[in-house]
Amino acid sequence: MLEILVVDDEQEIAKALQCLLSEKGYSVRVAYEGKAALEAVKKHRPHLVFLDIRMPLMSGLTVLRNIRDYDRSIKVIMVTAFGTKEIVSEAWRLGAVDFIRKPFTKSYLEHEVMAKVSAQLFEDLRREIDEKNELINQLKHLSKRVSRNFYQTVMSLATALESRDRYTHGHSERVENYSKLIAKELKDNHEIEIDRKFIENLHIESRLHDIGKIAISDTVLNKKGKLTDEEYDEIKRHPGESARILAPLDNIKENIDVIYSHHERIDGKGYPNRKPGEKIPLRAKIIAVADAFDAMTSNRPYRKAMSQDFAFKELNKQKDTQFDAMIVDAFSNAFKKKAGVSRKEEIMMKI
Ligand SMILES: [Fe+2]
Ligand SMILES: [Fe+2]
Repeated sequence: MLEILVVDDEQEIAKALQCLLSEKGYSVRVAYEGKAALEAVKKHRPHLVFLDIRMPLMSGLTVLRNIRDYDRSIKVIMVTAFGTKEIVSEAWRLGAVDFIRKPFTKSYLEHEVMAKVSAQLFEDLRREIDEKNELINQLKHLSKRVSRNFYQTVMSLATALESRDRYTHGHSERVENYSKLIAKELKDNHEIEIDRKFIENLHIESRLHDIGKIAISDTVLNKKGKLTDEEYDEIKRHPGESARILAPLDNIKENIDVIYSHHERIDGKGYPNRKPGEKIPLRAKIIAVADAFDAMTSNRPYRKAMSQDFAFKELNKQKDTQFDAMIVDAFSNAFKKKAGVSRKEEIMMKI
């Protein structure tokens, strides 16, 4: 807010100016003598000062000189009842920007004085707006940098995970691609509302869904034979570990529940919380299908990769028990369409 200081030993004059300027929305302070005026200038650094020329103790010209020595950008309008030519020219020389004469009529205050105030403050107002715009630009720039840094952090976490588990190399990227394929099909053919934010969230969640495996022992993670019950319990800790690892990152609070729930089942027999289908977030159900498909069609320490046809048969068998039927259907349709397009492209290339 633009600040104005009124300096006049005649209280009525000072109050009249204060009243008018406050009504116009300025922040106005009043000082009745020079010393108090200079203290107010130093403490509040006003944009504009109305300064009476003739005051006891310290004259307006002395106050003006001190203000100019302190800060040349503060504009000073002199207030005078009668001024000799010498005093007026000395005030101009010292840097006064304008004069008003007292006593005031209402119309003189309303029109001429306000016109002078606007003229003097216009530049300050424009500078304030420029400074604010500059600040907004800096904030925009900073927020872009923060989100870019955050994105890089997400990616390096995912890479750290996959470099540790040699059998799941590329797993989170494939889960992301399958999940996006399902989301597009749900939007196009099942009228499910899916916007840009949903896809961005799906990207983060699919890339990080298994991040908690960082806390699971290598021996269990890369074991060649069948897992014992204890070892399987150890694996089942990973959604909880993911939530614990990601909890300090403010930007992804809303993603944690999805990541935490990607091994829940529609029939409520999943882990870690045995949540029933209606309590499982949609994106967790999508990732569950994409995740299972990639697990079946990739080599694992204990078995070779299964075929895509076999994996789809398995997904279909688990509809409404392990997986959401609508999502299995959406994935199966989208995958067939995509395979059809690729096949067509392949044939075109041969021709
Ligand atoms: Fe998982
Ligand atoms: Fe996974």
